[in-house]
Amino acid sequence: MSTNSIHTNGAAREPIDHLVGQVTQAADAFQNSHNEADRLAALQAAQRLVTVFQKPQDAVYNLAYSPTHVMCVRIAMDLEIFSTLSERNGPVSLEELAAVKGADLTLTERVLRILAGIGYVAEQDVRVYIPTTMTRQMTDRLSGAVVRFIFDVGMPTLAKVPEFLRTTKFRNPSGALNGALQYAEKTDMALWDWVLTKPGYVDATNTFMEADRGSRPSWLEWFPVQEQIIDGFSESESDVLIVDVAGGRGHDLAALQSKFSGAPGRLILEDLPHVVAEATQHSKIEHLAFDLFKPQPVQGARAYYMKFILHDWSDEESRQILTHLAAAMKAGYSKLIIEEFVLADKDCAMLPAMWDWEMLVFCNSMERTASQWTKVLDSAGFRVVKFWAPPGDGQSIIEAEVKDPVEPSRSML
Ligand SMILES: C[S@@+](CC[C@H](N)C(=O)[O-])C[C@H]1O[C@@H](n2cnc3c(N)ncnc32)[C@H](O)[C@@H]1O
Repeated sequence: MSTNSIHTNGAAREPIDHLVGQVTQAADAFQNSHNEADRLAALQAAQRLVTVFQKPQDAVYNLAYSPTHVMCVRIAMDLEIFSTLSERNGPVSLEELAAVKGADLTLTERVLRILAGIGYVAEQDVRVYIPTTMTRQMTDRLSGAVVRFIFDVGMPTLAKVPEFLRTTKFRNPSGALNGALQYAEKTDMALWDWVLTKPGYVDATNTFMEADRGSRPSWLEWFPVQEQIIDGFSESESDVLIVDVAGGRGHDLAALQSKFSGAPGRLILEDLPHVVAEATQHSKIEHLAFDLFKPQPVQGARAYYMKFILHDWSDEESRQILTHLAAAMKAGYSKLIIEEFVLADKDCAMLPAMWDWEMLVFCNSMERTASQWTKVLDSAGFRVVKFWAPPGDGQSIIEAEVKDPVEPSRSML
């Protein structure tokens, strides 16, 4: 074994100085360009370097014990550790932190030990803590919502997924009513109905949806919305510019309105009745309760935008949803704009790969590759015009159109 290589695990056999060189090179590239692709390349290079110093046996322990990280972050949210430290913006003793919620000192110290280990707080002295960037991040409403939804709503099911898959003899599950969630929670309801039966879960779900873009660049920053959608709007075809199909509380449509405030045409937000009922009121956005599985109520709009909808559903359910959309669209005029992950066939980024499993947890569904997207769209009479790749590892835009004129839906707005 050479002196500058550590034979710790498969990924770590590259000589250390080669990996250090890669990190330096990637860091320089990022500092010069400040673009997403270079940032991700630098992050991956740094992560490969870290792996070299980890012994394989320890790596297994770290992996198996890692759920304690998110668990302690979730407890810390309840103990208001992040908000207390951020507000004080200086050293706070263990006693003071525990006192906020009257928690036991030893228990609070056990939580803080993990938080310090993962950088969510820093230890200024023995049992004296100061905030870090991550402490402050956890005071962000949307970051809290991510932990609350994935941990509170999803974790009990996640823990049962291997057991559930054994009962299915490892079939790739599909169908909103017979998945791991129904198995673990002993319910026959789909996620969207089941959350209505649990106090606080509807808010946790809808706030998570507001947070689901994270810091990944918005499509409004890189997709040519003006050229591809707005410029082709024609009042004589329809007075609706864009329908956000199952757009949650309307955050994506509000962002579009604010960036393209001079755009012509109506903006319509659609979702389930209880979701549009609590959607943010916006003078330029109309709200419409609808059902994905019933005829699309808005005919011939310039664009139908769907973000993170079809990944909630199986191919057959997606075909039904898309068929209703196709029937409402005007061939040669209306566009379908899908914002979703497109899984790479090789070297898939970890975030979409993890998201794929969360889809199985919550909706018994999956993320798709380009060929899977093409197949499901084709099954409902759509042609993919273009897969638009995002900068970095965010969601793509899949631009599609109906192949042939389709019988219009009977129900009109
Ligand atoms: C994953 S969320 C995405 C929301 C939003 N597009 C976004 O990206 O933030 C899925 C949305 O589909 C809605 N939904 C679920 N089942 C539906 C149905 N049968 N009809 C209409 N909307 C539905 C949910 O209420 C939820 O807002």
